[in-house]
Amino acid sequence: MNVLFVASECAPFVKTGGLADVIGAVPKALEPLGADVRILLPAYPALKQHLEGGTTLRDFDDLFGGRARLISVEAEGLSLLLLDAPHLYDRPGSIYLNEDGQDWDDNHLRFGALSRVAADIACGGLTHEAGTWRADFVHAHDWQAGLVPLLIRMADPNDPPRCVMTIHNIAFQGNFHWSVKDILGVPDHFFTHEGAEYWGQFGFLKAGLAFADKITTVSPTYARELMTPDFGMGMEGLLQARRGDLSGLLNGIDTDIWNPATDPHLAINYTSRSLKRRAKNRAAIEERFHLEARTDAPLFCVISRLTRQKGLDLLLEVLPHLVESGAQLALLGSGDKDLEQGFREAADRYPGTVGTLIGYDEALSHLLQGGSDAILVPSRFEPCGLTQLYGLRYGTLPVVARTGGLADTVVNATPQSIKRRKATGIQFEPVTADALARAISRACALFADGDVWRSMMLNAMRYSVGWEQTAPAYLALYESMTDS
Ligand code: ADP
Ligand code: GLC
Repeated sequence: MNVLFVASECAPFVKTGGLADVIGAVPKALEPLGADVRILLPAYPALKQHLEGGTTLRDFDDLFGGRARLISVEAEGLSLLLLDAPHLYDRPGSIYLNEDGQDWDDNHLRFGALSRVAADIACGGLTHEAGTWRADFVHAHDWQAGLVPLLIRMADPNDPPRCVMTIHNIAFQGNFHWSVKDILGVPDHFFTHEGAEYWGQFGFLKAGLAFADKITTVSPTYARELMTPDFGMGMEGLLQARRGDLSGLLNGIDTDIWNPATDPHLAINYTSRSLKRRAKNRAAIEERFHLEARTDAPLFCVISRLTRQKGLDLLLEVLPHLVESGAQLALLGSGDKDLEQGFREAADRYPGTVGTLIGYDEALSHLLQGGSDAILVPSRFEPCGLTQLYGLRYGTLPVVARTGGLADTVVNATPQSIKRRKATGIQFEPVTADALARAISRACALFADGDVWRSMMLNAMRYSVGWEQTAPAYLALYESMTDS
């Protein structure tokens, strides 16, 4: 079975969040099940080095204002199709934002081009020296690939290739001025309430949700939440109407990359049988974050984009409580300037107890998982969330808001779940500062009982966080489309 993935990020090459991790991991999990997955990605500067060893499969004289090439290359165990269009993607800095932190003003062209080339490949196949590769299924991820199902229908109205659209985060929708439909050459009859129109705008994700054969999101709870006004962000009506085609397939993680026994970013490797070794990782964290060495209360960590979604304004509110409990905090993140400033000030106010590093640091994110006691994820909404899954794998117990994938992946500590050796962390609701403060107190109380905490660490490290369940579910979903 051949599957064409279309996405705007892919780890380890280019990453702004969990989308990249998932795009880098799913193909590896599908391959042993018999799927040949090719990933179509923009050739951003971070991918340029891979262009040279690749094969040019197609040339475009004019792809929205410039020449472009499609290059096929194998890298890091993945089959990549890189869209080399320097006028669209060869820019320094963020892949989505300009120097002022605003969306690039030609994002409709940048990701319209990606979707157009995807539709081209999906309908026409790819001719290599070795023969022609044809996609049996197309899998579009998030709004940047949202136009793919529509463009496929335009290209092949009678028998379009079947297409899945996955929502990784409905907060990002790719809505543009209506005139973008003309710029991209989309006929008016697609621009309807049932089609690509979203409150008068031209919506990339809206188009994807309207025209894909199947829709998935990244956890069962988020799939249900998306059909409500509180979480659907204006798409709830459409998703309710398509509920028969919508499913929530839980994300997993790459358990080779995220493995405390082999992780090269840790000060020391460990397994569930050598948990004492974690102290060395903790010491390395203390050094990096200028924290005092303590063992009587938990060290919480945060690894996150600093945005309203992640609820970290609530953490700022309850920091005095965390500090009074004797606990410590190491935060790694970047994003909203107010939150960055707030956490910098907190580190100044509570030296030795709160440490803040503003920035993006992949290696440090691994070390934090390998030496902290607990990871805080107080998100207002969370389609799946990966940092709590990494936490489980590393024995860093997640303290999470009960929403989306956080609700589906953490087993809340109760007297029963502790007794049954199932408890893996703490969930709280509603997502308020008070409830978060209570969750922090619960974590401190559980930590104080060393045996309970240790048994929860072992439960967490045993918990299945890979793709064993979801990879076959994707395959079954693809196959279900053959008959429809
Ligand atoms: P989202 O995709 O909404 O940001 P996820 O939890 O799904 O949330 O994925 C976030 C990913 O980005 C994880 O791999 C996490 O470790 C990583 N990450 C987030 N912020 C940072 C940071 N400042 N430095 C390093 N890694 C980070
Ligand atoms: C999005 C979501 C996150 C999810 C990730 C990968 O970025 O915010 O919850 O884990 O996509 O699916």
